[in-house]
Amino acid sequence: MNNSKRIIAGIASLAMLAGVVAAFPVQPEKVSAEDDVIFSADFEDGKEDGFSRRGEDETVEVVSEGAHGGDNCLSISTRKESWNGPQVALDDVIEAGTQYIVTAYAKTPYYSKLTLSMQFDDAEGTTHYDNVLPQDCKDGDWLKYEAKVSFPAGSTNKFLYFEAADANCTIFVDDFKISNVPDVAIEDLTSLRAYYADYFKIGTALTPSDLASKPFMKLVDKHFSGSITVGNELKPDYVLNNKATLAYMEENGDDENPQVSLASAKPVLDYCVKNNIPLRAHTLVWHSQTPEWFFKENYDAKGEYVSKEKMLKRMENYIKNVFAALAKEYPTLNIYACDVVNEAWLEDGTPRKPGHPSESNQWGASDWVAVFGDNSFIDYAFEYARKYAPKGCKLYYNDYNEYMDKKKQIVEMATRLKEKGVIDGIGMQAHLDCRQSMDAAFPSPQMFEQAVKEYVATGLDVQITELDVTVPEKSGDQYFEHQAKYYDAIMNVAEKYKDNISAVIFWGVTDDNSWRASQNPLIFDSEFKAKPAYYSIIEGLTPGEIPTNAPVPTQTAPSESPSPTVKPTESASPTVKPTETASPTVKPTETALPTVKPTESATPAVTPTEKTVAYGDIDLSGTIDVTDLTQLSLYLLKDVKLSEDEKKCADVNADGNIDLTDLATLRQFISKKISKLGA
Ligand code: GLA
Repeated sequence: MNNSKRIIAGIASLAMLAGVVAAFPVQPEKVSAEDDVIFSADFEDGKEDGFSRRGEDETVEVVSEGAHGGDNCLSISTRKESWNGPQVALDDVIEAGTQYIVTAYAKTPYYSKLTLSMQFDDAEGTTHYDNVLPQDCKDGDWLKYEAKVSFPAGSTNKFLYFEAADANCTIFVDDFKISNVPDVAIEDLTSLRAYYADYFKIGTALTPSDLASKPFMKLVDKHFSGSITVGNELKPDYVLNNKATLAYMEENGDDENPQVSLASAKPVLDYCVKNNIPLRAHTLVWHSQTPEWFFKENYDAKGEYVSKEKMLKRMENYIKNVFAALAKEYPTLNIYACDVVNEAWLEDGTPRKPGHPSESNQWGASDWVAVFGDNSFIDYAFEYARKYAPKGCKLYYNDYNEYMDKKKQIVEMATRLKEKGVIDGIGMQAHLDCRQSMDAAFPSPQMFEQAVKEYVATGLDVQITELDVTVPEKSGDQYFEHQAKYYDAIMNVAEKYKDNISAVIFWGVTDDNSWRASQNPLIFDSEFKAKPAYYSIIEGLTPGEIPTNAPVPTQTAPSESPSPTVKPTESASPTVKPTETASPTVKPTETALPTVKPTESATPAVTPTEKTVAYGDIDLSGTIDVTDLTQLSLYLLKDVKLSEDEKKCADVNADGNIDLTDLATLRQFISKKISKLGA
């Protein structure tokens, strides 16, 4: 493959990192909502059955016209805002941290996006709003809503509600039910951890909603409990607390001490503590999923970038505060590894462009580069992490497409950091693509091995941190044997270098809840059954004794030394001056009012049971990437026509129009600033 092609493949693959995370379809036959109903509202007795209005202006009544089943349904009229609508309070009905099946029928009298959503307060009292299942209501027909829903453990003020993008239309609801999810036994297989007992840790990534599924967690406990990565909730977007940071600035006149909160990560961290499972903390410094305000004067996202000096103080205090909060709130948590910096190099070994990734013309840009001018922030991050991380916590640089040309820069950087004594390892994300055969796979196992070899040669530890291997979009199980061969080849490489590889972490457990769900990239299927890849990787291995996860001694918080006390050495990073972005500079029009307050979760707490539109996949290729952006630009310029299916996918904000707002939104998604498309 020539160099430019590689870069394109890399860009496409990076876009896939931001992939379709909004919907995890579940086989309809798996959902038997009739089984074990714990709450139902059919309005047949003329009462509102626990439903009320969300706003102040709506009229809530039981009406008999056009009911779905029986004689009555609920009507919510005189709405004024898109979020106005019917809600049901669930604190007395369901338990946080448990998964349920919700079924309901709802409609609007004329076209509108109609969304089933959830609301809850986390352990610190912050309110979250998440979309569960957005659907298009057409022609006043009843729509069936069916989804697996869970509220994070410890959450309170739990509500389910309907909201309609059209702020004025009446919403009707009928036959609303909540049922227990039937428990499913998992197969009696030998633990993967046993097979790899003499090799490396086997782990996975977990989000709070995963904890709510019993069979899912049985698989985690059995096969992947050697290491847990919090899937999203330890990323800066979740950890940096804007409100507390502003309050701190106000009270102390100090704008260099960003405040943090671990509330979103709590359910997963509690799980790790309870089971003594070692944690990979992911991730401190990243261009993506990091709030823009963190880099700006007065913490105002619209303000000027702060100076490098101020940013260094913010960076140091942020890193210090994260480790201090972890030590204080989770003193017995075994934080054995931490990704200090994630994805700083582009495929060709240049730093990212300066800017915020969500800006419409800043695909993949980095605020860190905008402040520092280059990648020199990396050295500081490692020095601060070394200073504040608990004893025994190994520090990693983690990257995607790590087998491409950027290897050279990663090795140079890692070698320099090793000389300074501030890095312990290199994380290879390993989001790989088998496609339809070993021959079509990218990277080839040989290419992957070459990268492992080069990283191992630095003398640092190597971890495979986010392993998954795709097959073609919506191809069912027809390529699973190829996928098994490819998985086996990759694991053979890991086994060969076992003395220098300390962990292999899968990015998820079952295909249906992967961020690349439509490409079935994991080793268990949606029915919790082992796929051919499970059997291929263990073939020839003899199971050993599963290593015990021992409790760690109580951690103490990093000392409150004034910031900054470390004088970072001058960085030897190449001072590449980032070039201007080549993306078209389309100026987005004002965005229409969002139908919901933005969700913070990049991995949904819910599993819709009906197929949803693959928003953003405009060329219907199965991946959302720059090609889709181009296609959308051309459509807006009237240079190409789109089919009806393509048009559905092009309306990425699901407001019924395809316009420049969709273009801007799609850019934000590809640059991972936002994690959901659709309503
Ligand atoms: C990258 C990040 C992960 C995750 C995946 C997509 O690999 O490192 O945290 O966001 O993208 O799920």
